[in-house]
Amino acid sequence: MHSAIAKSQRSRGVIDRYREFLPVSASTPIVSLGEGNTPLIYCQRLSKRVGRDCRVFVKNEGVNPTGSFKDRGMTVAVSKSLERGANAIICASTGNTSASASAYAARAGILCIVILPAGKIATGKLLQAFVYGAKIVAIDGNFDAALRIVRDLGESGDFAIVNSINPDRIAGQKTAAFEIVDEMDEAPDFHLLPVGNAGNITAYWAGYREYQVYERSTKSPVMIGFQAARAAPIFYNRIIEKPETIASAIRIGNPASWKQARAAIAESRGAIDVVSDEEVVAAQNWLAQQEGIFVEPASAASIAGLFKCCESHEAAYSFQKIPEASRIVCTVTGHGLKDPDAIIERMEELKPLAATTNDVRRAIG
Ligand code: F0G
Repeated sequence: MHSAIAKSQRSRGVIDRYREFLPVSASTPIVSLGEGNTPLIYCQRLSKRVGRDCRVFVKNEGVNPTGSFKDRGMTVAVSKSLERGANAIICASTGNTSASASAYAARAGILCIVILPAGKIATGKLLQAFVYGAKIVAIDGNFDAALRIVRDLGESGDFAIVNSINPDRIAGQKTAAFEIVDEMDEAPDFHLLPVGNAGNITAYWAGYREYQVYERSTKSPVMIGFQAARAAPIFYNRIIEKPETIASAIRIGNPASWKQARAAIAESRGAIDVVSDEEVVAAQNWLAQQEGIFVEPASAASIAGLFKCCESHEAAYSFQKIPEASRIVCTVTGHGLKDPDAIIERMEELKPLAATTNDVRRAIG
């Protein structure tokens, strides 16, 4: 009996768990793949790096059905699109939105069109859109150009836009903040996350505020967002025409939720900061090798950012004098297996040995 209950809870998606906070009704057809309920992992070595008896938790969104946090928003956006009678959805993407949209469209039995910057999508993500059966269109332009086209096509009324300019996406994504508060019995003191199109920081802040209003928590965290150094429009307060970064998921020069991100940072007395590609790659390796959590480069921006807050004099927000025993959550947004190319380049070729125990023992050293 107990195991049956546990099993039914595992397969519940975010609409089922947080229906009262979401824009759905009894007549909304629910399209779910069992997203959400992701682990909030206490990280001892990360905590030690922060010091001051602080406790650091990683919210691992890479274990969602398509390997990223986008699934939380997509279950709501696709369910609502279906309710409104859409038979096709459309999105621009740096990869994860398109992977998620394709999967939920397949589940709903509707068409998904994805507009992508040619040659800039991580292998695993492109493969996902392909295998889920999306109509993929690559353009000779970046994400910002792709989103412009999607906005134009959305206006025709033929397609439902499922980028985070669709408020149903933000509504679904705020459930990650709910889960954190539910699990900690209070909001954390600090929340760190990567920022690209700025939908997720907007969603987390909305979720924390809403839970505080409903007295599920007594406070909301300081929000600290991290952009890639050469793709940091919010940090520099200007549109970046040619954003570049190894963290291709956040290679965005003109974020749609720019204003909302600014508001979240101001209201929470937080900050926006930048991390370099080198810091991102170092943090990605560190998290895999020290905590056993393998994330894609964009996700490692929150970990690189945490290190910067602790260790750099140039940090936009310094952790050197934060209250002792502060509780810090870092969201890691996508699974590492989505973006293997740079890692494959670093791997040594494995030359097979003779199949004897002695040869293998010698190789182990
Ligand atoms: N991390 C990952 C892995 C992402 O895929 C994204 C955004 C972000 C962080 C940033 O989140 O845009 O809400 O600020 N990916 C979008 C996409 C742009 O198309 O998949 P954001």
